[in-house]
Amino acid sequence: MKKKLKWGVLSTAKIAREKVIPAMANSDLYEIYGIASRNLDRAKETAKSLGIPKAYGSYDELINDPEIDVIYNPLPNDMHVSYTLKCIEAGKHVLCEKPMALNNEEIDGLITARDKFNVKVGEAFMVASNPQWLKARELVRSGYLGKIKAVQGFFSYFNDNKDNIRNIEEMGGGGVWDIGCYPVFTSRFVLDKEPGRLVSMLEFDPQFRTDKVGSVLLDFHEIQMTFTISTQLTAYQRMLFFGEKKIMEIRIPFNAPSDQPNEIYIHEGDFSKANAEKIVLPISNQYTQQAIDFSNAVLEDKEVPVSLENTKANTKVLQAIFQSSSSEKWVNII
Ligand SMILES: NC(=O)c1ccc[n+]([C@@H]2O[C@H](COP(=O)([O-])OP(=O)(O)OC[C@H]3O[C@@H](n4cnc5c(N)ncnc54)[C@H](OP(=O)(O)O)[C@@H]3O)[C@@H](O)[C@H]2O)c1
Repeated sequence: MKKKLKWGVLSTAKIAREKVIPAMANSDLYEIYGIASRNLDRAKETAKSLGIPKAYGSYDELINDPEIDVIYNPLPNDMHVSYTLKCIEAGKHVLCEKPMALNNEEIDGLITARDKFNVKVGEAFMVASNPQWLKARELVRSGYLGKIKAVQGFFSYFNDNKDNIRNIEEMGGGGVWDIGCYPVFTSRFVLDKEPGRLVSMLEFDPQFRTDKVGSVLLDFHEIQMTFTISTQLTAYQRMLFFGEKKIMEIRIPFNAPSDQPNEIYIHEGDFSKANAEKIVLPISNQYTQQAIDFSNAVLEDKEVPVSLENTKANTKVLQAIFQSSSSEKWVNII
């Protein structure tokens, strides 16, 4: 029988408490063995409520615990690279939340460390493990939609809490880093192409100085991709892939529910959608799937779902969005 991996969680982040840890219950592959917080009482309380055996009063204690095999890093964005590096140097495999880095050049250091310490490191784009996105990619690659010429995306929510990490510039806040990463990542994932250049427009919140509305046009070489994101609009999300024969609509592309089936609609210019072909995926939890895929990569020495090389390419696009908005010019992504 294979060894059951012991995972440790760096911090009591909301995403960890509410989504990722609950989704990782009852597995033969792994267990959540420990959780760390800056505050020992908070770590203990969270460990107790989620049934985690061990609590630590500092991140370093968890990182240096020889019992831990894999670390999940959901710290604020500006702490991702430094703590992922610490974990790697302690010989741990790391699944780090998106965005892994706020500068693509920092990823080179992680790649070097990953190879030196011979560990698995990946970015937690759970969409890459979600059956609806695997299906979408398969449909596009098979030619079922005809040649894809355009992609459109939208992702928004409303959050004007000044204390939320998303509204703190120094912590890597703002819409591009928080949610712009998804339409970029899923387009690259499905199209299996890298965009060559982009032009963008961002509106910044005057108080937070973080981007609160943004639109981007990406040149995917004969495929035009556009998307809009916002941190201060009513919540909505959708991704559309336009082929010469058919249109594919991913109904809930990013916050895919785990208690009902995910649906992909395929239609051919039928505005009522009455005749849309509905692809209904079996009920699944994308965070469970992510943990299974990452654990299997560790246990079977396989490539992780989202490699650091993939992360680097995504980060370059996100950085170019800021460059284009400030220069008001097209930016080549190199
Ligand atoms: N993949 C997804 O679906 C998804 C969804 C949401 C968020 N995320 C990502 O997950 C990460 C965490 O997001 P979240 O919304 O869960 O954040 P959050 O609730 O604010 O959690 C961040 C945690 O970081 C720790 N921390 C350390 N230094 C901190 C500081 N100076 N200020 C505030 N917190 C500090 C805190 O834990 P302790 O107090 O316990 O030390 C805090 O609970 C982000 O990178 C975000 O992009 C991913």
